[in-house]
Amino acid sequence: MLDSLNRNIDYLRISVTDRCNLRCTYCMPPEGIEWIPHRAILTVEEMIRLSRLFADMGFRRIRLTGGEPLVRKGVEQIVRGIKDLPGIEKVTLTTNGVLLAAQLPALLDAGLDGVNISLDTLDRAQFAAIARRDELDRVIAGIHAALAVPGWNVKINCVPSGENDAQLIPIAALARDHDIAVRFIEMMPIGLGGTKQRRTQAEVLAMLEDAFGGAIACAQPDGGGPGEYVTFAGFQGRVGFISAMTHKFCNRCNRVRLSATGFLKTCLQYETGADLKALLNAGANDDTLRAAIAQAIAMKPASHHFSEHGETMDETRNMHQIGG
Ligand code: 5AD
Ligand code: SF4
Repeated sequence: MLDSLNRNIDYLRISVTDRCNLRCTYCMPPEGIEWIPHRAILTVEEMIRLSRLFADMGFRRIRLTGGEPLVRKGVEQIVRGIKDLPGIEKVTLTTNGVLLAAQLPALLDAGLDGVNISLDTLDRAQFAAIARRDELDRVIAGIHAALAVPGWNVKINCVPSGENDAQLIPIAALARDHDIAVRFIEMMPIGLGGTKQRRTQAEVLAMLEDAFGGAIACAQPDGGGPGEYVTFAGFQGRVGFISAMTHKFCNRCNRVRLSATGFLKTCLQYETGADLKALLNAGANDDTLRAAIAQAIAMKPASHHFSEHGETMDETRNMHQIGG
């Protein structure tokens, strides 16, 4: 559906859980967090019902996020239920990869169309330092399992934080050796991300050009995402930049987010949106729910203002509650 700025909002990200099996330093505090109680989280049926309403309203692609979506029991039922909805073209998932190899057969059977896998380093000790869990081996196994799925377009997401500078070249080289997209995501001042260092698109591009030669611009891939893509001589795949800070893309934003607690969030920065879970709990019918969704999208903010606020944010939650 079109918002008030004529942006076509047809992409929904559903955070299926706030829980995670890693504790990345830019996402979670060392002492861990208090998880949201199960009763406050949307059920599988509620997620599928709401997805049907979004599909009715013109949404075509749904991505499941977290926390870590694969720690949610029944995630493959959510994939299957959404994939079966009329109008839905693609159901994908963003994962840290730890449980991916183990769950991939069930997810493929459910109709999953692709994965984005987060990877900040290929160095085992550094992985354990950043994610506070020694899980690099299972992540690598997950990446290999995803690469082996015929017809999938696998994306790797890496957040350059200064800490992993030496790893950016080996991670980008995954796009040299495979037909995949490696995307570098600028650290956003969301929750603990605001306390971290950021490497900008320009800084990362300079490092890559030192290693691989001049960047060659690529066509934008389908789906209207925020990435800007380049490639390098001898690469099979592409390198993307998702640079919310230095290359703001709000004018072509195509998405809204549904939190695990059923709150429809229309911009990463703001608390604005609609409490769909409250409506569900009150027994709202489909018309009421669709009207609430339409009203929230009509009020979608024009853009974030991360930089203007001295990089503190209205959004105080961490990314595991928002889903990226
Ligand atoms: N800024 C940018 N990306 C972040 N992620 C988590 N926190 C931030 C942040 N503050 C990324 C993770 C993962 C995805 C779900 O979001 O690295 O790739
Ligand atoms: Fe988990 Fe992702 Fe947060 Fe890391 S960034 S702790 S993988 S939710």
